Amino acid sequence: MTDSLTMSDPIAYNYRVVRQFTLATVCWGILGMGLGVFIAAQLVWPQLNFDLPWTSFGRLRPVHTNLVIFGFGGCALFATSLYVVQRTCQVSLSSEGLAQFVFWGWQAAIASMAVSYMLGYTTSKEYAEMEWPIALWVAIVWVLYAYLFFNALARRRVRHIYVGNWFFGAFILVTAMVHIVNHALIPVTLFKSYSLYSGATDAMVQWWYGHSVVGFILSVGFLGIMYYFVPKQAERPIYSYRLSIVHFWAIISIYIWAGPHHLHYTALPDWAQSLGMAMSIILLAPSWGGMINGMMTLSGAWHKLRTDPILRFLVVSLAFYGMSTFEGPMMAIKTVNALSHYTDWTIGHVHAGALGWVAMISIGSLYHLIPKLWGHERMYSVGLINAHFWLATIGTVLYIASMWVNGITQGLMWRAVNDDGTLTYSFVEALEASHPGYVVRMIGGATFASGMLLLALNTWLTLRQTRQQAASQQGELAMS
Ligand code: HEM
Ligand code: HEM
Repeated sequence: MTDSLTMSDPIAYNYRVVRQFTLATVCWGILGMGLGVFIAAQLVWPQLNFDLPWTSFGRLRPVHTNLVIFGFGGCALFATSLYVVQRTCQVSLSSEGLAQFVFWGWQAAIASMAVSYMLGYTTSKEYAEMEWPIALWVAIVWVLYAYLFFNALARRRVRHIYVGNWFFGAFILVTAMVHIVNHALIPVTLFKSYSLYSGATDAMVQWWYGHSVVGFILSVGFLGIMYYFVPKQAERPIYSYRLSIVHFWAIISIYIWAGPHHLHYTALPDWAQSLGMAMSIILLAPSWGGMINGMMTLSGAWHKLRTDPILRFLVVSLAFYGMSTFEGPMMAIKTVNALSHYTDWTIGHVHAGALGWVAMISIGSLYHLIPKLWGHERMYSVGLINAHFWLATIGTVLYIASMWVNGITQGLMWRAVNDDGTLTYSFVEALEASHPGYVVRMIGGATFASGMLLLALNTWLTLRQTRQQAASQQGELAMS
């Protein structure tokens, strides 16, 4: 790694696009999570649907998922991957124009997704709801992004390919593949299309895609972030280079087979369900390989956790990664899934990964990145980072604990039967029992989202310093 390189290095890195994606991450994060809090409130107070189609839970839910996954998570991945590939390959991006196209093209895609879902246009495939013109646009922007990334990699001035780039590279390639295959469709009008696949095949292709979003965007991509920012922030080399290679090849070859665990007890052939279950259980090993490698990188640097809240973000995110990748394989076991499926347990699992892992590793990396990008030693306020850390941790714990309690309660109430074979509880009784959990989830979500406002404030204060410095330098020049 090129530890000694700084902003004053002779290589003129393209930081403009990285800065833009960094700010976009903060904006989409606040919007997406704010909307998450709103839809969580709708589940507490259904009146908040306002009896309007475009503000109903059904339409706003995919807006939330797309804003947080593709807006917040996507922009965090664009920012970090384009930063890391330049720094570790010691080259700049090949074209400023192309980089700007990728940035604005991606923002346009996210905005069109949000607006079109609110208007009711959807393919109805989860995380692939975008109708065909947007899907086509996303494919074009993605291919150009892939070109920017791999072109920088190909022109690298060091022989070695840093391990973070392997993870980013796999995430870029597999996302392109599953997006294009899952969106094979027949357009009927400008806003309506039908999938090329039908029935169980359609479901299988969709969850092959859906699980790859989890596996390659929300896991492999963020592992790429982990492999650069954890060693940087801890100022320690990665614990085991060998482990990183072994778990890289294992994770990318196994993830792609796990999709059928989303389709247990459906019309999908039984052998496919069992294969998905087996692959999911095996997936525990390479996932934990990544977690252990990240955690052990702190060997000899654990004391830094006392004073460095950024490192705390990174380490706690790894702990949540370990937890959610233990829980996932368990939920993939058919008998466990018979209880957890359709319940809030799944929602709890999702957010253990989404808030605990994805959001926390992104936030930690942003706090490392922002001062570097704008030429400062550190963020404006370490106290605000610390406060953010506690809001994020407490928010995540409240969210997932309430959803576990709800999920298991729902699963047990739904399956309870009387001696004569009738159901013990009606659906509404299970819903009533879930109400307190929804309140706690909303409070947890609001706590997490308020931390994002501290990130925005700290970022603004840091950037304001840059402007003040520039102004005083100009003043000094004018005086001399
Ligand atoms: C070894 C790793 C993992 C395995 C085997 C796994 C397994 C599972 C299983 C069995 C389900 C429930 C499917 C159902 O009943 O419908 C699920 C849902 C989900 N998981 Fe994981 N999980 C893993 C890690 C993660 C991570 C790290 C994230 C990151 C955020 C994540 C995100 C999700 C999402 C978003 C869903 C909901 C999908 C949907 O129904 O819309 N998973 N996972
Ligand atoms: C303040 C933070 C957040 C809140 C309050 C929140 C709230 C919610 C709510 C209420 C739902 C719908 C649950 C249901 O249908 O019963 C949901 C779904 C979902 N959220 Fe979030 N969310 C937050 C952050 C995030 C983040 C950061 C991510 C991803 C990086 C994320 C990814 C998802 C996904 C993938 C689903 C769909 C889960 C499924 O279908 O199983 N959320 N969220």
